[in-house]
Amino acid sequence: MSAEALIQAAQNRRTIYQLGKNAPVSDDKIEELVNAAILNVPSSFNTQSTRLVVLLKEEHDRLWDIAVKTFEGLVAAGTVPEQVFKNQTLPKLQMFKAAYGTILFFEDPAHIQGFKDKFPTFKDHFEPWADHSNAMHQYFLWTALESLGFGANLQHYNPLINEPVTKQWNLPAEWRLVAQLVFGSPEAQAGEKVQKPVEERVKIFGRQ
Ligand SMILES: Cc1cc2nc3c(=O)[nH]c(=O)nc-3n(C[C@H](O)[C@H](O)[C@H](O)COP(=O)(O)O)c2cc1C
Repeated sequence: MSAEALIQAAQNRRTIYQLGKNAPVSDDKIEELVNAAILNVPSSFNTQSTRLVVLLKEEHDRLWDIAVKTFEGLVAAGTVPEQVFKNQTLPKLQMFKAAYGTILFFEDPAHIQGFKDKFPTFKDHFEPWADHSNAMHQYFLWTALESLGFGANLQHYNPLINEPVTKQWNLPAEWRLVAQLVFGSPEAQAGEKVQKPVEERVKIFGRQ
């Protein structure tokens, strides 16, 4: 792939909230991407602690029903005001449910503990490094899904939904949910994005 193609893919990756259920490619293509992420995204000391769970169609719908139910519980308990739930949270969750799929990004701490024990000098770094690697998986898949014609947005309903999600899909209890990437047919453009000056954010020394 040329650098230009990579830059183009990076430019095309945007946050798109209005998503629908018309997939531009087959589910096989989604599986291919997810496997490519797992096989090719790097991790510190090659720990490979990231875990991905792909929910499509009615399984995706189920995830966002779980989120609604979780918030209904919080409203009932008095933790979230009913008006906030009705006017803000519920419309958002319904918007996510209208999409085609969600990729759940997890970390499996079992694969980090061994490295902490083996390399005590770096013991405090393994967790942040695992999160960095997890984020690289998120970025790869966000960019790749949009290059296939999907739109996507990144959400963080963890840790609120961790327990029911683990239960629903019978996942290992120790896996830690880090992020949710919602994707579907793009039904609206990305919003305007204000950029801070590049010169304030990049320094190059020794340039010809
Ligand atoms: C680490 C990270 C966390 C984010 N978390 C959320 C989130 O919880 N909810 C959300 O709607 N957008 C989230 N976003 C999306 C950002 O708001 C968005 O990427 C940013 O405003 C730039 O817009 P763009 O994605 O269109 O380039 C997150 C993005 C990143 C990189």
